[in-house]
Amino acid sequence: MTKGMWRPLGVLPAVVLLFVVLPATRFMSTRASTTAGDAARGDYLVNQVAMCAQCHSSRSAAPRIAGLPDGWPEEDFVRFLKTGDPGDRPRPLAPMPPFRMNDADARAVAAYLKTLR
Ligand code: HEC
Repeated sequence: MTKGMWRPLGVLPAVVLLFVVLPATRFMSTRASTTAGDAARGDYLVNQVAMCAQCHSSRSAAPRIAGLPDGWPEEDFVRFLKTGDPGDRPRPLAPMPPFRMNDADARAVAAYLKTLR
């Protein structure tokens, strides 16, 4: 048994880092971004697509939604954007449009609104 035989094991930590640790963190971060919502996409949806801010601005009568509307936990808010179901609150009436967003978009909108105050 010579020392030389074991020398290749010196690269083992690097191999573990490359093939085990890094892929695992990549996996964790994509999972986190799908559950937490992509705030940049939310910015686009709120300001360019769904036009929430057209009505929900400080100058209008629609309730404030910046930082999420008062009394709406994020899960309720996301469900409302996906299904129109406001939970045990009164259903928001027209002109509030009935949205049917997919999960990623609803979470993106929530993530973006949480960045606003
Ligand atoms: C055409 C105008 C308009 C647009 C666009 C709009 N809303 Fe609204 N929204 C309203 C109005 C008006 C109300 C209040 C309705 C009522 O009093 O029943 C409301 C109510 C709400 C409520 C309930 C708030 C509460 O405190 O009861 C939420 C949540 C909400 N809107 C989120 C959004 C989001 C998110 C968007 C964009 C994805 C959006 N709205 C786009 C007009 C709009």
